[in-house]
Amino acid sequence: MPVTECPVYDVDLYSDEVLRQPYQHYRALRDLGAAVWLPRNGLYAVGRFEHVRAALRSPVLFSSAQGVAANDHVNEMSKGTTLASDAPLHDRLRAIIAAPLLPRALEQIGPEIRAEARRLVEDLVSRGRFDAVTDLAQHLPLTIVSKLVGLEDYGRGSMLRWASATFNVLGAMNDRGCAAMTDVQEMRHYLGGSGIRERLRPGSWGERIFEAADRGEVEAERCPVLMRDYLGPSLDTTIFATANLILLLGTYPDQWDLVRKDPALIPGAINEALRLESPIRGFTRHLTDNATIGDVTVPNASRVLLLYASANRDERKWEDPERFDVCRRASDHLGFGNGTHMCAGLHLARLEMTALLEVLVEKVRHFDIGKPVLALNNVLRGLVSLPVRVS
Ligand code: HEM
Repeated sequence: MPVTECPVYDVDLYSDEVLRQPYQHYRALRDLGAAVWLPRNGLYAVGRFEHVRAALRSPVLFSSAQGVAANDHVNEMSKGTTLASDAPLHDRLRAIIAAPLLPRALEQIGPEIRAEARRLVEDLVSRGRFDAVTDLAQHLPLTIVSKLVGLEDYGRGSMLRWASATFNVLGAMNDRGCAAMTDVQEMRHYLGGSGIRERLRPGSWGERIFEAADRGEVEAERCPVLMRDYLGPSLDTTIFATANLILLLGTYPDQWDLVRKDPALIPGAINEALRLESPIRGFTRHLTDNATIGDVTVPNASRVLLLYASANRDERKWEDPERFDVCRRASDHLGFGNGTHMCAGLHLARLEMTALLEVLVEKVRHFDIGKPVLALNNVLRGLVSLPVRVS
């Protein structure tokens, strides 16, 4: 039960209505208090930048070991993954999956990603019109990640369905979450099936996980779990971030002009888009003791939702937070999280997005944006379609 002084917000944060227009609700939460009780979801929510970041930097008190979902079933199921573990297990798992995602390791695949981005953008620009989600944003994550993980036979359709389901079940177990369970089970079955190792390309990231098990660095039964760490969080996140970026650059042509004239602004534009339209709205933590969040005391064993997307628009931290400003110093946004669980794939995501923008600045003067179609997902914010005409 909430302590008496904790403000209450009687809105289901996972309803369609909130998913369609979340930002007014995030603002209401921030204005209500540092931590707010959500009776419809049985969670506390934290939406101010300062407190979200402090919680992410206190992984002992704000534990991930009991899961980071907003429902008990998935929290139970996901225990012991990189995302849902604390030190020392977390550090051991993370060292294995993060190795090929570190900047130096990515240098080897940079040229291939850039070449593929150039080929793709030149082709799309020559067509004049395309869908910024299905034609542009999906291409690199789908082709590159499946190849790097070593599962090229992986059906394109299944991969996207599974990735989106992975995030839907991390929210509330509402109709959307329940419907996604079938896809999640299918993915677990595929990756956990016998013969998966034989299907992996030699030298791939997947193969490296099994080699780590051969060396005794990780238990063999954890190998499928670690492969899920590559597939689940790497697709829709990057796809949504890329399409959100195109939507913003098309909506604010003055900002696109700035980037075109000075491509050194590309990293800033990517950060600013991740700040303003964060693909992952938030994950939960489980308290291992009473926690003082601002002036609110939240009791031990509570589940607390840390809203990265709200923190990234907190007017206490950002000046004029609703404005898309590619010159803003936004590198400390929480779109990739923060602290010990900060996104392990952020360098790859940045590499993919940068590679696309580097060619777009050369080839596109203007994006004429059509009607975007929103993807309704319990945890992700992004688009399923964004028609674009370029000139
Ligand atoms: C723009 C794209 C991306 C965004 C916005 C994003 C966002 C995030 C966030 C917010 C977290 C923190 C989770 C937490 O606080 O508990 C995270 C963790 C993680 N991400 Fe990403 N991600 C992206 C791309 C990727 C890619 C491309 C990969 C893999 C190839 C990846 C792999 C992971 C993994 C393995 C974790 C768990 C890290 C840990 O628990 O130590 N992500 N991501």
